[in-house]
Parts: sequence; structure tokens; C-alpha cells
Amino acid sequence: MNRSVKLNDDIYWVGVNDRETDIFEALWPLEKGISYNSYLIVDEKTALIDTVKSNFHDSYIAKIEDILGDKKLDYLVINHMEPDHSGDIKAIKERYPELKIVGNKKTVDFLEGFYNISEGLEIVGNGDTIDLGNRKLEFHLTPMVHWPETMMTYDTKDKVLFSGDAFGSFGALNGGVFDDEIDTDYYDDEIIRYFSNIVGKYSRMVQKALDKLSDLSIEVVASTHGPVWRENPEYIIDFYDRLSSHQAEDGVVVVYGSMYGNTKLMAERIARSIAENGIKNVVVYDAARSDNSYMISDIWKYKGVIIGSCAYNTKVFPPVESLLSALANRKLSDRYLGIFGSYSWSGGGVKGIKKFSNNNKFELLKPVIEAKHSPDDDKYQKCDELGKNMAEKILE
Ligand code: FEO
Repeated sequence: MNRSVKLNDDIYWVGVNDRETDIFEALWPLEKGISYNSYLIVDEKTALIDTVKSNFHDSYIAKIEDILGDKKLDYLVINHMEPDHSGDIKAIKERYPELKIVGNKKTVDFLEGFYNISEGLEIVGNGDTIDLGNRKLEFHLTPMVHWPETMMTYDTKDKVLFSGDAFGSFGALNGGVFDDEIDTDYYDDEIIRYFSNIVGKYSRMVQKALDKLSDLSIEVVASTHGPVWRENPEYIIDFYDRLSSHQAEDGVVVVYGSMYGNTKLMAERIARSIAENGIKNVVVYDAARSDNSYMISDIWKYKGVIIGSCAYNTKVFPPVESLLSALANRKLSDRYLGIFGSYSWSGGGVKGIKKFSNNNKFELLKPVIEAKHSPDDDKYQKCDELGKNMAEKILE
């Protein structure tokens, strides 16, 4: 969008859409793009909340200049220093050299390290405010949602929570910026994928932040990514509450790594058994041909996961190992887990997944199945049994 959008009489969305970056953080596919949301408040004093990725400077600054005209920019509030939001700080400061950059003690190190900025700062602590005239901006420190310096900014007049990455989503804004302008279903899976890929590791800190914010009256949630929630802010707050407390929906993800097709045969048999036993949401992934981003997201979404691997050089098949490592890093808990696999001359695949199971808070279901060479009738029956046990657990 090449023009600003009014959130209300005094607040403007001045963000940008990124449809050019293929992989966010050089890891996560952006098939629907992403927005970098920034907001401009025009009161007796003016404040810009967060910036955008530096590639988008020209269209970004044009929107700000169009709104401010001859007015100066008094404050630039930095809720989060990851470069998708801090990237344009230096350019904004050059355009408005008198502005004060507002951050907390932990912001300072990032500002100096990334952008060599150490002057013109206003350091705030939890609960501090700055006065813009008809409203105050109140700062709530929410460390590790997603980096140590992350904080949120609350507008006391219009009750807007500028939340940084929290309550964000992948997916560019396709014309509609506000939840009342769009079919929000479009974003549901991208909210889960964004949360599980980017913020999920810090679930405990998200829960702390939600607790801390619970006394605030919030009428608008304005995140740095995805839609602005002004009609139904509870929707996204509740969504994040469920995701960060690791609640899940009925459904099972079956992931397999298979070199010669034998582990794949077992995966197909298990998936069929799950479906036959009443589970409608069954997602099967070939780990070698699927991106971790989507597998992590669906495993976050559903209650059950069944992981299979062939043995590769006496270990877990590398694409499956990569997924296990990503799950362990995120400390996802409270899922039912099934394990299966095959080998030709040495084990290693199933053994490695068992090790993952021992170190993570997943409930392991029986039977664990390992076939030598190819599955025989006995192994297939065990696949049926595992699928049935999983379905029964999900439906309990
Ligand atoms: Fe959207 Fe943690 O940056």
C-alpha cells in the first residue's frame, strides 16, 4: 500500500508490505508475504512507533512526510530492535534529527551495535509514560517476546496496544489492514506458523506478558506484523494465549523420512488407521520434501504427532533430525507422540527419535515400530495399532 491508512482520527498505519523476501530470517518461507507495521500518532506532539525494514525506506518516509507536512517528529518509540522493525531508524533520525528515540535500557546496546546511535535517547522503564498532549504513551517491558529488549507501548486515550511482534502473523496485508475489513480466516494458519516459527520458543514469556497486560483495557491490538485488531482484539489475544500455553486442536501430523520407500509405506498405513478411527485432520509430510516451517506449525496446531525415520549412517535421517532439533529448541510440550521407522543394516533412526522423546515433554504412545528392510504383516498390524491408539488418545 503506497499510502497511509487511518486507524482513527490521530493514529495512522504507515507500514509496508514485503512480497519480495522469499525466506524470513533466511529460514521461513513467505508464500503470502509479510507486513512490517509502523504507526504514526499525531497529537500535540508526534510519535512514530517502530520503523520498517530498510529496503522500503522510500515508500515509508513518503507516507510519514505526507502526514506530518511541516510538523516535526518528536518521538520514535522502539518496541523491538530486530532489523525488520529497526532497519529504518538511522534514516528516520537523519530526516528528523531532533527526535528522541524512546527505548529501554536493553535497547541501548542494540542501537549502538547495529546503527552506531548513542545520543538523543529517552530511556524508559516499566510503567513510565511520555505525554503527547491528549494522550500518554505508557511502556510495558515484555522481555523475550521476542528479544531481550522487547516492550509494548499503550496509548492511554484510544487504548491501543502497540505490541511489537506479539499478536503478529505472516501474510502481507492485501488491501485490508483492519480485522473489520478482511476475512480473518485467511490469516489463521499464518498466525500459527508465525507464532510457532518465530515466537514459540518464548511461550513462557508470552504467558508472562499476557498476565502483565491483563489489567489493561485494550480496544485495539496493533502488532508489527499482520492485521490490526480493532473490532475483535480478544480474538488475537485469546489465539496467542492458546498457542503460548501449547493448547492444540484434534488432529495428527505424520512425518516420515524415507530413502527407499519402506518408512513411507508405514506412514501411509498409520495415517489410514488414524483416519479410520475417527480423526478428520491428518496431515502427512515427507520430511525430505517439506519445509520445517510448515511441519512445526502443524505440530503446534494439532494434539498428535507421529514421526518416522529410516536409519542414515546409523542416525536419524537428516531432514527428520532437523525437525526434531527445531522442535526441541522450541520446547513444545503436551503432545502425543508415536515413533516408527526402518533400517537396512543398522538401526539408528528409531533410536534417535526415542532419544528426542526422552528429552521432551511428549507422551509416548505404543507401539514403537521398527522394521528391518521392509514392513511385514506384523509391522503393518502394529502400524494399525499405533494409529488406533493415537486416535483414541486424541478423542479422549
Ligand atoms: Fe518482527 Fe522479532 O521481529
